[in-house]
Amino acid sequence: MITIALSKGRIFEETVPLLAASGITLSEDPETSRKLILATNKPDVRVILVRASDVPTYVQYGAADVGVAGRDLLAEHGGQGLYQPLDLGIAKCRMVVAVREGFDYARAVRQGARVRVATKYIGTAREHFAAKGVHVDLIKLYGSMELAPLVGLADAIVDLVDTGHTLRANKLIAVEDILPVSAHLIVNPASLKLKRETLAPLIEAFGKAARG
Ligand code: ATP
Ligand code: PRP
Ligand code: MG
Repeated sequence: MITIALSKGRIFEETVPLLAASGITLSEDPETSRKLILATNKPDVRVILVRASDVPTYVQYGAADVGVAGRDLLAEHGGQGLYQPLDLGIAKCRMVVAVREGFDYARAVRQGARVRVATKYIGTAREHFAAKGVHVDLIKLYGSMELAPLVGLADAIVDLVDTGHTLRANKLIAVEDILPVSAHLIVNPASLKLKRETLAPLIEAFGKAARG
């Protein structure tokens, strides 16, 4: 049995065509079913639905053999115990530092001021600001980061941007790029050894579908 870990929403939707190109179709729609384990047309392949940030954990511990996870969450997880053979080129966006339109980030940095930064990416943010020599106080959030600077919780946020609509709608601007983000295929190294016969063709088919 091969177990594939996906998260609901954009990762699921953008992975379905890659699965189809690999000959795998799902028996159920996760938006209407409440099931967390979905069967496929192949009796030896199943899909499990987990929180996006939990995908690396399921694959690391071998509860799933493969998974699809954003580079943002892989950076935050650290990637230990994960083989990452493929950039799937889906769910593309950027991780950035953003501030309120009126906040002079460059000046705060120049003056060595402590900048209060709210984010769900604590580890990645800490590394980014340390490398730049920017002094920060990090505040952990679990979502809706764009709100934090508007109500005085933080001066800046570290969040994802795609179209820029969310930043604009909340009068925020991106002031620094941290990481280009896309979803990667991740594989449990022990699974790859033990189930190479089924996993290698799957990885190859995903690669082909992603490239083209
Ligand atoms: P949860 O709902 O559990 O808090 P989440 O917000 O991380 O999870 P998604 O919004 O589905 O879940 O994001 C999954 C992945 O998709 C992210 O880790 C990131 O790599 C990518 N992503 C997030 N937002 C965007 C976006 N606006 N455009 C493109 N890709 C995105
Ligand atoms: C993501 C991300 C930003 C937004 C950026 O949120 O957290 O808020 O997309 O995209 P944009 O630049 O195209 O506006 P998402 O849509 O995943 O909503 P969520 O808060 O439910 O995670
Ligand atoms: Mg989201």
